[in-house]
Amino acid sequence: MKLEFNTKKIEQIKADVEISFVSEKNIKKITKAKELFTLYNFKGDGTIFDAQNKILYVSIKEIDYESIRLAFFTALKTINKLNIKTAKSPCIIYDCVVKSFVAMAEGAIFSSYDFNKYKSEKKETKLDKLIISSTEINDKNFSANEAKIGIQRGEILAKTCSFVKDIVNEIPQTYTPLKMAQDAQNLAKKDKKIICKIYDEKFLEKEKMNAFLAVNRASIHPPRLIHLSYKSKNAKQRIVFVGKGLTYDSGGLSLKPADYMLTMKYDKSGGAAVLGIIKAISELDLDIEAHGIIGATENMIGGNAYKPDDVLISREGVSIEVRNTDAEGRLVLADCLSYAQDLKPDIIIDLATLTGACVVGLGEYTSGIMGNNEKLQNDFYEASKSSGEYTTVLHFNPHLRELVKSNIADISNTSSSRYGGAITAGIFLDKFIRSEFKDKWLHLDIAGPAYVEKSWSYHSFGASAAGLRMCMSFIFSLLRHKK
Ligand code: BES
Ligand code: ZN
Ligand code: ZN
Repeated sequence: MKLEFNTKKIEQIKADVEISFVSEKNIKKITKAKELFTLYNFKGDGTIFDAQNKILYVSIKEIDYESIRLAFFTALKTINKLNIKTAKSPCIIYDCVVKSFVAMAEGAIFSSYDFNKYKSEKKETKLDKLIISSTEINDKNFSANEAKIGIQRGEILAKTCSFVKDIVNEIPQTYTPLKMAQDAQNLAKKDKKIICKIYDEKFLEKEKMNAFLAVNRASIHPPRLIHLSYKSKNAKQRIVFVGKGLTYDSGGLSLKPADYMLTMKYDKSGGAAVLGIIKAISELDLDIEAHGIIGATENMIGGNAYKPDDVLISREGVSIEVRNTDAEGRLVLADCLSYAQDLKPDIIIDLATLTGACVVGLGEYTSGIMGNNEKLQNDFYEASKSSGEYTTVLHFNPHLRELVKSNIADISNTSSSRYGGAITAGIFLDKFIRSEFKDKWLHLDIAGPAYVEKSWSYHSFGASAAGLRMCMSFIFSLLRHKK
């Protein structure tokens, strides 16, 4: 589906169907539908289709970015089922014009995402084009240029979300670390501004990435360290993203129970988001230097598997007591964060489906932000708010730090307490952050929202591309402040 902004008013545009948004404020203004609304007892809930006049009425409760996304998503979800080729709609502005158009574009594009590769019968949508007119539902004024920037940005972000979702939704049988490396290489092949380097197990051995290698040992698929980079000529900041790319997490010898193992193909969500972030940064030509480091491996069982009781010497030289092989993400990240710090980043952000505890603590909708720099955490939180992703800051404290101490090594890969598991995992990672980068690092635990088991708002079943939009929003805010 194509998205287009048209400076004409909605009445002057030709299309098969018109979308009309109904809010508490404008319901009385929509006089031509008065009878219809009375007939259906419509008080601004859901949708009504006036088949005779080809108008789809869609309710919007509040005016904010999330409601705009949901309204466009709902409208297009309904229209996608119709046998029509073009639709037109007014626009809805809340606060920032660009962000509002980003929200409209995202909502519209999210409506047509479907992972149907393994279905014999594919749902097909007939809609070719949505034209967003300059008619604003509350008669607000704005410039066409801002509208166009917003739509273009929203289109790139939403399409990159689909790219990320396809990776995460892909099955573990085919989506191996080698496949992830191939996808990274393809990004660089298609876009000359992106450089991709792939490192194999020999490199990991040479680099003494023993924690990463231990996790991979029982897998028949070799591991890969993926390094993507993009550098704008006017880059003022170097930002490094690090992603957990567990193409499958069985738990290893500390095997997951069957019910918990199911869905663990989505343990590559952090890595997939990092691929998407670099792709989006390049497509948007942002004035920044960005790197994406992904540790891609499976966590499997076998005679060769690493064991609870093992001690691993990580790339940073920190020794790790393995007490649970299911706490594998932090081991892979420990070595990847070490490699990432050699790039001397101004900001370093890791993304990972790291703990079940984060899902228990925050619910399925919210990601945890951790780190040592309160201002950086708060800035990230503020930036994420308008992105459509929920986040919250989780603070470290000295008592929780005590819990990852080991009797025989520098640190244990699990906490000695049942409580506070999301934060103790963050504290574990902190052990691998050198003092000069302590204040430059953020850890994002996206375990909750990365995979949708029960659809909510504009999120359908499966991968959600968690992490991508909030990180992009943070980069936009960085660039605004660096001007
Ligand atoms: N990949 C899981 C975390 C996870 C759990 C993500 C549920 C999404 C949904 C991670 O590797 C893991 O298994 N963590 C353990 C850590 C524990 C053994 C200390 C967990 O959270 O149970
Ligand atoms: Zn695990
Ligand atoms: Zn995992």
